[in-house]
Amino acid sequence: MSEYSGGKRDMKKVRIGMIGYKFMGKAHSHAYRDVPFYFDLDTEPVLQTMVGRDEQAVKLASEKLGWQSYETDWRRLLERDDIDVIDIGTPNHMHAEIAIAAAKAGKHILCEKPLALNVQEAKEILDAVQKAGVIHMVSYNYRFAPAIQYAKHLISTGALGSIYHFRAQYLQDWIMDPGFPLVWRLRKEIGGSGALGDLMAHSIDLARFLVGEISEVSGMMETFIKQRPIGEMTGGLSATVDSDSKGDVTVDDATAALARFENGALGVFEATRFGRGNRNGNRMEINGSKGSIRWDMENMNQLELYLEDDPRGMQGFRTIDCTEVEHPFAKAYWPAGHGIGYEHTFINLIHELMRSISTGTVPSPNFEDGYRNQVILETIERSNIERRWLNVSY
Ligand SMILES: NC(=O)c1ccc[n+]([C@@H]2O[C@H](COP(=O)([O-])OP(=O)(O)OC[C@H]3O[C@@H](n4cnc5c(N)ncnc54)[C@H](O)[C@@H]3O)[C@@H](O)[C@H]2O)c1
Repeated sequence: MSEYSGGKRDMKKVRIGMIGYKFMGKAHSHAYRDVPFYFDLDTEPVLQTMVGRDEQAVKLASEKLGWQSYETDWRRLLERDDIDVIDIGTPNHMHAEIAIAAAKAGKHILCEKPLALNVQEAKEILDAVQKAGVIHMVSYNYRFAPAIQYAKHLISTGALGSIYHFRAQYLQDWIMDPGFPLVWRLRKEIGGSGALGDLMAHSIDLARFLVGEISEVSGMMETFIKQRPIGEMTGGLSATVDSDSKGDVTVDDATAALARFENGALGVFEATRFGRGNRNGNRMEINGSKGSIRWDMENMNQLELYLEDDPRGMQGFRTIDCTEVEHPFAKAYWPAGHGIGYEHTFINLIHELMRSISTGTVPSPNFEDGYRNQVILETIERSNIERRWLNVSY
């Protein structure tokens, strides 16, 4: 059978309205454009309308990223009947207002992570989508690295035995210069938290996906640089300084947390934007009774696996390149050994969103996952303030 046997079938068009077009807007735009290129789908995303506040800038961005039109007020999307999905790629303080309004307007929603500024907002968002009966998905994209999906397969088929330890580090270093400005990610009223909600949220999602629910946490947080010059993000993790005057940093630069899982496993989490030399050091290790796995996003196609049942003398961590046809998503891309990258985690995520819209089933991770993640984030924050272990209650 030809590689292209799926062909260009009669696909249902799913028209996207995307709000925010910098770092995540670029990643999502690319994924919508590329998903039909790699996967055979019943649905085809249409890059219908992009939203930004500055008309000239959004016009240029919409042309560059391949959108058919643009708007300068996100509320316009909700009034239009040619928009099926609202994609929220704005800073965190906007997520709740947009998501709740989108649910009321009967639109499906893809929201960037963390789901909201705090638990109260996250619960209101979850209630709104459940009441409206729309499809909802939160963009914890690292779940969609093939090696992570393969790790899930190994754990659920018992290859690692009972899980004892989940250990994760998410280390970056892009704000270490004290001259780096006070961008939205460093302001609590816009970001909600710092390294905690930006980075550790991803590790918590992987932990919940791979090991299970977290029942108790103890957190420790620090802000090393307390004031910074005023400025704004320019895309990716770059920023410009807009003024000589300084403002207070109101989020954590680094957070560490201990956790207990409901199944008895222990979790150790570390997230920092002060991990000198680590550009996107998103790593985790899981130890079970029969084996262990290790993964590092900076080498994302590889999974290290140790199996105790290997013959004595040959035991040790082996490195699996998760690009063979047996590995998740591999058939959609290239021959074995021809790796994929960061952007493909979003293509795989959008594939799951399109599949869900086609079948009418809620995808994973969804807003329930976003809400639970937010509860864990907030419990870690409270634990740091109260300086004691706290139960996680949903
Ligand atoms: N999944 C991931 O790995 C990942 C990575 C980075 C960021 N994020 C999340 O994505 C979201 C956006 O982050 P980013 O890095 O793309 O930020 P960014 O600063 O690069 O872009 C934010 C965009 O939102 C727009 N915006 C802000 N307020 C708006 C409003 N009122 N109306 C319309 N547009 C508005 C800005 O103009 C900009 O285009 C955040 O929730 C962040 O936590 C997720």
